[in-house]
Amino acid sequence: MNKTPSQQQFGQNSAFYLTSTPHATGKSLQRLVDLTAPESTWRVLDIATGGGHVAYTFAPHVARVWATDITQEMLDMVKAEAAKRGLGNLRTTYAKAEALPFEDESFDLVTCRIAPHHFDSIPDYLTEAHRVLKPGGTLAVVDNIVPAGPVGDYVNAFERLRDPSHLRAWTMEEWRAAIEAAGFAIGHEEQLFKPMVFKSWASRYDDVMKRLLRALLTQATPEVKTFLEPQGDGDAFSFRLCEGLFIAKRD
Ligand SMILES: C[S@@+](CC[C@H](N)C(=O)[O-])C[C@H]1O[C@@H](n2cnc3c(N)ncnc32)[C@H](O)[C@@H]1O
Repeated sequence: MNKTPSQQQFGQNSAFYLTSTPHATGKSLQRLVDLTAPESTWRVLDIATGGGHVAYTFAPHVARVWATDITQEMLDMVKAEAAKRGLGNLRTTYAKAEALPFEDESFDLVTCRIAPHHFDSIPDYLTEAHRVLKPGGTLAVVDNIVPAGPVGDYVNAFERLRDPSHLRAWTMEEWRAAIEAAGFAIGHEEQLFKPMVFKSWASRYDDVMKRLLRALLTQATPEVKTFLEPQGDGDAFSFRLCEGLFIAKRD
């Protein structure tokens, strides 16, 4: 079977996502635990688990976590890492966000972090999350967000050049509307800026591509620079991205 752009990109770079600082130690991990207050009886589904960081973070607090993804290399890595960490209640399985292989009303919490901008259909993912959540269950979403208009378009084009499986990061307004349209009531939302070290972010590329990506940061319009905040020199050159976090209840 042909691999999708996500499966190709994440299959080739799976190890990066296990150690990448914004994924492994980003602020949103602890915020998700604080805001969802997980209980020891809960069954949790982590969609698009990538390096598995949300699943590892929740596993000690709940009965069982299913870490799911469409990229087999990620699932193999997460299974090995969970064993290393002694997380016996973590299961890995293949699942596409838009067509989840789980029964209706089977989870207390469905999480998904820094991944929906890769999905073919965010509305289909939200509909599926709603279906597999128990009534009153919790949806927790974190994804990179952009401002509306040309600044957001520029940031999405910049991100897509570095990773062609990046389809489109949404605005907070788009997320709010889609979560509500899927039948959830939003209880909390926030934005979290995260520092991105250019050297690590662009590490998979040769010098020509690195120069191009760097120029898109240093020569951007003042409005784009206000959002991405490129700064520093040499190995310390960095910029920032913004995560939107939503906690919502299934009706
Ligand atoms: C950046 S990683 C996720 C990071 C991870 N959730 C975390 O918090 O560290 C994005 C993941 O989305 C997965 N993915 C892309 N499209 C998907 C889809 N339609 N359904 C499920 N997973 C998908 C990729 O295979 C990849 O592992």
